[in-house]
Amino acid sequence: MRIYLVTGNRHKLEEVKEIAKITLGKLAEKLEIEALNLEVEEKPGHSIEVFFLNSYLKAKAGFEKTGSITLGDDSGLVIPALENFPGGLSSRILKELSWEKRNEAISAMVAKLPQHLRKAFFHCSATVFISKSEFATFSGRLYGILSPQPKGDKGFGYDPIFIPEGYEETLAQLGPEVKNAISHRSRAFQSLFEYLKPLIECESREISQRGD
Ligand code: IMP
Repeated sequence: MRIYLVTGNRHKLEEVKEIAKITLGKLAEKLEIEALNLEVEEKPGHSIEVFFLNSYLKAKAGFEKTGSITLGDDSGLVIPALENFPGGLSSRILKELSWEKRNEAISAMVAKLPQHLRKAFFHCSATVFISKSEFATFSGRLYGILSPQPKGDKGFGYDPIFIPEGYEETLAQLGPEVKNAISHRSRAFQSLFEYLKPLIECESREISQRGD
């Protein structure tokens, strides 16, 4: 069964495939997840609401394009002490800089905050469109603190400056195995794949009955 994920980010595609395996076990072998690189006009703003809206808009645009089950997500880093900055603007701020420089700039802002205000979380909203009139959205969060300097090279985006609660290293130091077990994306997509599970089971039973 082929489904689509609206993204141009190959790290995200790899993470979502891994989360499908963690959630569905052997059933994930029946699922082919393909990236769909679509320009979708996203809602601006850094409120948390935009994560939900943008995941919906991406999945809807993907479904309209493919006519097949399509997933869309929107995620970002939220720093409550900085009025939820960068939040829904996570992909757009300081875009002229490399990720290394962007993370250094955010670390420098955070270093000015007292220790107890260096808290942050990642939020992910993930939407699945199954038919023109059927969709569902799931959310996940990962809480932690921000590192005063970027560390590690195993992740992407803001991973080098985010230390998850209960750990002493950044996500970029901990690596994909730990990240996929605890991340905001993992929590949102695990719920999404649980929701899709009966449909995947039903479809794979039909295929084996037909002998395809
Ligand atoms: P989007 O969901 O692709 O729009 O991502 C929004 C922004 O948040 C991008 O700049 C990502 O790099 C960043 N972001 C989203 N998820 C993660 C993550 O798991 N780790 C680090 N950065 C992330």
